[in-house]
Amino acid sequence: MNVLAIIGSPRKNGNTAAIVNAVCRGAVAVGHEVEIINVNDLTIHDCVGCNACKTGKIEYCVLNDDMQKLYPKIVTADCLVVGTPVYVGQMTGKMKNFFDRWYAFLDENHQLRHFPGEKYITVTSSGGPAEAFQSLTDYFNYWLGDFFQMKLVKNIVAGTLQAVDDINKQPEILQLAEKTGREL
Ligand SMILES: Cc1cc2nc3c(=O)[nH]c(=O)nc-3n(C[C@H](O)[C@H](O)[C@H](O)COP(=O)(O)O)c2cc1C
Repeated sequence: MNVLAIIGSPRKNGNTAAIVNAVCRGAVAVGHEVEIINVNDLTIHDCVGCNACKTGKIEYCVLNDDMQKLYPKIVTADCLVVGTPVYVGQMTGKMKNFFDRWYAFLDENHQLRHFPGEKYITVTSSGGPAEAFQSLTDYFNYWLGDFFQMKLVKNIVAGTLQAVDDINKQPEILQLAEKTGREL
């Protein structure tokens, strides 16, 4: 299986990355191919709403940035792992920009013309209690699951995380993440 992990935290060694890395470690242990990308390392412009992606004349998007390399990876992945910290009640801005650019997957009737990876895993981490941000998990499940027709493997939700390595105080979350990767 070909696993593509996308991390939305600017803290490269933070809690979100640690959980996503644990999923990936599990996946690698059972022989899957894994690529991990942090959107903060990429140039991802804001969608400008030009609707060029709806003309049928271009494959993805006219904006010439790192999404051009990411689009084919997203549609050929067997499983996407998306991880973000909660920033002011939502995913990080970089991560949202990344998802806005998925608009290119839709045709002029807003039907899917490209199908992003078959399965998905979400990872969310927050300073407040884990259950306080169910709305973010619901958001992912609506867009990835219902709208983009991907199959949910697991929503991994971690709370009470402030310092960059607080996740180490919750080994059960890291174990769950690794197990989730192993079971892919
Ligand atoms: C700009 C910013 C906004 C944040 N907003 C929230 C928030 O609304 N709710 C919350 O519980 N935690 C919030 N946090 C805390 C982070 O979600 C939490 O520490 C998370 O685990 C950080 O993940 P990371 O270590 O992967 O960067 C915020 C942190 C920052 C830097």
